[in-house]
Amino acid sequence: MLRLFLTMTNIETVERTAQVALDEIRQAAPSELDALRVKYLGRKGLVTAFLTGLGAMDPDRRAAFGKAANVARGRVEAALQSRLTEAGSPAGGRPGFDASLPGRRTYPGTRHPITHTMEEIVSIFARMGFVVADGPDVETDYYNFEALNFPPDHPARDMQDTFFLDGDLLLRTHTSPVQIRSFKKRQPPVKIVAPGRSYRSEAINARSYCLFHQVEGFYVDRDVTFGDLKGVLWAFARAYFGADVQLRFRPSFFPFTEPSTEVDVSCYLCAGKGCGLCKYEGWLEILGAGMIDPAVYAHVGYDPDEVSGYAFGMGVERIAMLRYRIDDIRLLYENDVRFLQQFTF
Ligand code: DAH
Repeated sequence: MLRLFLTMTNIETVERTAQVALDEIRQAAPSELDALRVKYLGRKGLVTAFLTGLGAMDPDRRAAFGKAANVARGRVEAALQSRLTEAGSPAGGRPGFDASLPGRRTYPGTRHPITHTMEEIVSIFARMGFVVADGPDVETDYYNFEALNFPPDHPARDMQDTFFLDGDLLLRTHTSPVQIRSFKKRQPPVKIVAPGRSYRSEAINARSYCLFHQVEGFYVDRDVTFGDLKGVLWAFARAYFGADVQLRFRPSFFPFTEPSTEVDVSCYLCAGKGCGLCKYEGWLEILGAGMIDPAVYAHVGYDPDEVSGYAFGMGVERIAMLRYRIDDIRLLYENDVRFLQQFTF
């Protein structure tokens, strides 16, 4: 009893009790707050006890002790009140709502790597004066093949593994038909970039998928040369891959261009030394291009003696896979969130 009396009248004990109360209040779930109020501030509460003991106290110690006890009660009350307010209800917390639980994480969406890559490519060409256009994914044989100078039974059609639809319709196998649609609508100068989807009935594996994206570009005007084509592709490559990139132009064949070329970029991963990504070649093919064949102009009413032009078509998946070191094209179509979350553009 004596020990208890001594303890009860010690100011340090008041402060320590208040501190313990504050810690417990801070850590408590809202549902526990009422019990803590009873424990410390109730009629028989531990803080209340300091105040009820005042009457029996030596008058010259009473003032200082009473003040300490009042301060302690005020602090404990304030702490309880602020926890209750934070819990959303001054009356003691809503049932089932625990403001002390950690928040739920949200996952804000980002652009798909293909969308992002296509937008970046288009914006580089837009800065060079190309205007954006598009065409339908469902095309006719005429726009996809015939007007692009693929003869009816030409083996070049086999390269394209076409998905045929009802009647004359098909899923476009490349974005080149946008050339024909644009030329028929406009007169030179025409300087257009056309991003979009293409479809091919190919076996699906790490390198090819039944659909993919291309960015088509073309420029027809007076006196457009192969040198202009090289200049614009070099400018694109430097803007997209960086100042150290190298380009290699290989002779090739497309029915709608003459001469035709396929263009490789130096492998960014090994800087051209040779690695698994570039199959130890040091180079990666990213596009086809060439000077537009006069046979194409015949379909759209342009005079090949008056105008000339170039065209190119690049594979967006290819470019994205290079840039982001993606080793399987199917990852771009499965939309596994664990894959997509790695891109924060
Ligand atoms: N359309 C071709 C393909 O998908 C790529 C291409 C080659 C586009 C040459 C062009 C070009 O505009 O001039 O394989």
